[in-house]
Amino acid sequence: MTPLLTVTGLKLDFYGVHVLRGVDLAVPAGSFTGLIGPNGAGKSTLFNAVSGLYRPKGGTVALGPKDATGLAPEELVAAGLVRTFQLARGFPKLSVFQHLMLYGADQPGENLLAGLFGSSAARRREAELAERAFEIARRLKLDHVLDNPVTALSGGQKKLVEIGRALMARPKILLLDEPMAGVNPSLADEIAEHLVGLNREGLTICLIEHDMALIKRLCQPVVVMAEGRTLTQGSFEEVAADIRVQEAYLGRRH
Ligand SMILES: Nc1ncnc2c1ncn2[C@@H]1O[C@H](COP(=O)(O)OP(=O)(O)OP(=O)(O)O)[C@@H](O)[C@H]1O
Ligand SMILES: [Mg+2]
Repeated sequence: MTPLLTVTGLKLDFYGVHVLRGVDLAVPAGSFTGLIGPNGAGKSTLFNAVSGLYRPKGGTVALGPKDATGLAPEELVAAGLVRTFQLARGFPKLSVFQHLMLYGADQPGENLLAGLFGSSAARRREAELAERAFEIARRLKLDHVLDNPVTALSGGQKKLVEIGRALMARPKILLLDEPMAGVNPSLADEIAEHLVGLNREGLTICLIEHDMALIKRLCQPVVVMAEGRTLTQGSFEEVAADIRVQEAYLGRRH
């Protein structure tokens, strides 16, 4: 079966430094794929290159059978690929509800003029978006903080808003960059359970995470990156037993 996301030989330099040196990755449709590797391996950069933020120097990205190399972020979002950031972005003064609405509305094909002139189609669209924002907030247990500014939220709730924002775009595949990092263990578990639920409903997920217990529990397959390349891809047990993977982690520690 064609993977939902296929990355082949992806290369990217920063000021002459080879940060991605030919990354190969296949995310099977419906999978909860894990992406691991030592600090600086290039995981976040890979997400940036795949999601259209950086332009790769070489290699290809495909969504299903379709070439998606070099598409702009909004084109990729329209094609169903949405990512979250390692550090949540956003507008601190806006409420949770406003955040969800803003990102839901920020879709290609959105008719700005219709919005300005308040056509009935635009009002209907806004009502639909609001309904979707409520539904996502309920599902992520953010409904009781919908009117709070994002700054008033806990670290874990901010991560959930970031996930909710991504869901507003109705993704087929979600790239998550350390959505559980820096939150307390019980909230990390809660976030993990939300992700498992979304994956069971058919959402394909690719998760960057340093917590190996979480990766082991959630992810199949697991892809390992080191020094700008993919080392291997397999079950958690397979990659953990791989001597190259052990060396990549140990090499950084010593
Ligand atoms: N915008 C940038 N400009 C220059 N160098 C960068 C930039 N972004 C990342 N790098 C460098 O690219 C390399 C890979 O960084 P990246 O953030 O992708 O690693 P990572 O695997 O996500 O690490 P971590 O697990 O610590 O988040 C690092 O050496 C980093 O310093
Ligand atoms: Mg990173």
